[in-house]
Amino acid sequence: MSSNIAKFRISGGVPLNGEVRISGAKNAALPILLAAILTSDKMVLSNVPDLADVKTSLRLLEELGKSCVYDSESGIAVIEGPVTSKTASYELVKTMRASIMALGPLTAYLGEAEVSLPGGCAIGARPVDLHIRGLEAMGAEIELVDGYIHAVARGGRLKGGDFVMDKVSVTGTENLMMAAVLCEGTTVIHNAALEPEVVDLAKCLKAMGAHIQGEGTPKITISGVRELHGCDHSVVADRIETGTYLVAGAATHGYVKCTATDPALLSSVISKLREANVLVEEGEDFISADTRNRTIRPVDIVTAPHPGFPTDMQAQFTVLNALADGISSVTETIFENRFMHIAELIRMGAHLEIKGNTVICSGVPELHGAQVMSSDLRASASLVIAGLAARGTTVVDRIYHMDRGYEHIESKIRSLGGTIERFY
Ligand code: EPZ
Repeated sequence: MSSNIAKFRISGGVPLNGEVRISGAKNAALPILLAAILTSDKMVLSNVPDLADVKTSLRLLEELGKSCVYDSESGIAVIEGPVTSKTASYELVKTMRASIMALGPLTAYLGEAEVSLPGGCAIGARPVDLHIRGLEAMGAEIELVDGYIHAVARGGRLKGGDFVMDKVSVTGTENLMMAAVLCEGTTVIHNAALEPEVVDLAKCLKAMGAHIQGEGTPKITISGVRELHGCDHSVVADRIETGTYLVAGAATHGYVKCTATDPALLSSVISKLREANVLVEEGEDFISADTRNRTIRPVDIVTAPHPGFPTDMQAQFTVLNALADGISSVTETIFENRFMHIAELIRMGAHLEIKGNTVICSGVPELHGAQVMSSDLRASASLVIAGLAARGTTVVDRIYHMDRGYEHIESKIRSLGGTIERFY
């Protein structure tokens, strides 16, 4: 029976073999696009991935009054003009939680903002209390009215302040960094996130004239300026897309070389792949994983903020452990509900057992194809990897989740020799 929800049909059991070009990082492109709110000058962004979330961010910028031109072939986005509206609507924010990152720059540039509170999502409650408290530390008055966050900069301009993040928060750090760059005075963010996407945003903001020090360390110091100018910036490579294709190659006992990427972005994933007996080669801008005729060894994983093992790679690596020759454990410490792929993998023959925030994996020689359902972005990636490794045919439903974070999935998998087709 056909429907309007896209699915993937995958014929698995064939080792992947070949090269794949990695795209710009979704989680860097999203904050960097919203940084355009901070200037009316022209921003020319390259290596911007052709993703649903990028299109949503561009729509949000247009809703705010900016003019945006994006060419998905070249990956270049040109954004200019002043924001003329302070409102990020629920209609838009409900489709992309990262829209919360409009709050900081809008309050900094306009002196006020109205941003819908993002709802929860499949992987957890995802509160934004740190975003709000951080803005209050910079002199914003914040009210929650009818599901919207109303922020007003007391006296019309935010003032620098010190703020300790109770928890390491990636978009929390990014939101506050984008608020602080136009503050009067100096802001220090303590216990800041160290992710490469935070560093790439800082690089873009500095190209716009911001004064930032310490990005990539737990203490970021920002001296506010009156205004920022436009810039050219190329988005950093996507370390999670890189890790996803390396794991897909390993799970199918193949050989995958990721190009236009940077090994330094995912050293924790690389060391775990080596621990799993994958032959990994690193170059200036490439990483290859070779698991041809090699046994996959079980590897214990505990997710942690960068530079620890990324939570966004947890579901993918669980598939590798499901096919390893022994017992292993995967512990999720960041989100409270990030195991929705487990029941689906069990339907494909995996021997997995959830105990609290840990999955115990007892490796099996092979998985078999089945009809499975995506629940979130990275869970869908793990189901596609499992389908590529499994004997027989797998149908993955609701792959709109995957379209949010993986550019040109089918063509990239086909270029590696995988058999995959999208149907409705
Ligand atoms: C970012 O989400 C990423 N998204 C996520 O990637 C990633 O999984 C996550 O960081 C962790 O690395 C983007 O960058 C757009 P957090 P974010 O704030 O910033 C708690 C993907 O698959 N917290 O670092 O929303 C929170 O509940 C997505 O690409 C608060 O309590 O995550 C979580 O337990 C999924 N209060 C922990 O902190 C706050 O105000 C880390 O969350 C904010 C967060």
